[in-house]
Amino acid sequence: MKIITVIGARPQFIKAATVSRVIKNYSGIEEIIVHTGQHYDKNMSEVFFTDLGIQEPKYNLNVGSGLHGKQTAKMIEGLEQVFIKEKPDFVLVYGDTNSTLAGAVAGSKLHIKIAHVEAGLRSYNRKMPEEINRILTDHAADILFAPTQNALDILTNEGLSDKSVFVGDVMLDSTIYHLKMAEDKIKLSDITDLTDYYLATIHRQENTDDLSKLKSIFESFSQLDKPVLCPLHPRTKKYISQIEITKNVKIIDPVGPLQIMLLIKNAKKILTDSGGLQKEAYFLSKPCITLREETEWIETLVGGWNYVAGTNKEKIVELINCEPTSEKENYFGNGKAAEKIVKYISENVI
Ligand code: UD1
Repeated sequence: MKIITVIGARPQFIKAATVSRVIKNYSGIEEIIVHTGQHYDKNMSEVFFTDLGIQEPKYNLNVGSGLHGKQTAKMIEGLEQVFIKEKPDFVLVYGDTNSTLAGAVAGSKLHIKIAHVEAGLRSYNRKMPEEINRILTDHAADILFAPTQNALDILTNEGLSDKSVFVGDVMLDSTIYHLKMAEDKIKLSDITDLTDYYLATIHRQENTDDLSKLKSIFESFSQLDKPVLCPLHPRTKKYISQIEITKNVKIIDPVGPLQIMLLIKNAKKILTDSGGLQKEAYFLSKPCITLREETEWIETLVGGWNYVAGTNKEKIVELINCEPTSEKENYFGNGKAAEKIVKYISENVI
């Protein structure tokens, strides 16, 4: 069986690495990686391949940055050529980026089976490009791998239950594996001098492209009782010169997938607008403040492990003092989601 895995952005590298590790141990499955080139900076792309041992992409479409329509269109055009040439039995797509949507559109038009990992997530905010990508991908794909029961219920409510299956979250698998890898290879002091800090990441378009929101977030950071370590996405960096950064905020370049594990593990709390980081914080038992008006990962809210603060600075400052009120529950499977995914695909090829 031939599988083509389409990846292009940071969170996809992490998830695909985890599934690819399992595929490698399956006889009879050949995997070809296609990198769309959505993320192209060394520390947004290459470092993930080297640190996580992901096999070299056979194809890189080098689409780069651009308006959503143009970027996605270039990906669809390139993927179509690759799919026609390689004739895969399955195309695997991950998450909610423009690369995910492009893989789903190009593959389904060629009648190739599409499997979507991390299906059924919804923020119910249609202004997020990711929300449109998720909905369209779920409806175009043939197999939907749901990471939680809630995601499975959402797919069922949208009439997609026949092609949906709960497998758990591959990010739980990856967090367990990559934290161990990180602890074997690096130390916190290799990354930062800080030992008592909050970790913050900001990259969502709704926050970066609205200067008043970005200012409000950084004003709240200036009032926190500990230093705020902030590995900054290039999208956010473009706007940072227009904002006052106080000296308790330490901005660094984006870090690799092993470094981020240690930074989360050693942080006091996490402040983020990333979906992945909200979950990694939960898996590593770190309280999180979400810098958005809503979250797809509603399971993390139970027991006060994650609070949705939006970008209101008073609210962020107030919520930093809220502690979890109960033990965490197990909503995300047993850390074996990747094995379930590969087994399911191998048994469902026609
Ligand atoms: C994308 C995904 C988002 C995911 C995130 C992880 C979409 C719509 N969004 O957002 O779901 O959580 O990746 O990081 O697909 N840039 C660089 N170097 C890079 C990559 C990006 O400088 O290597 C800059 C470019 O100026 C670009 C901007 O960042 O215009 C945004 O990049 P883009 O790929 O459009 O989306 P992300 O914000 O990274």
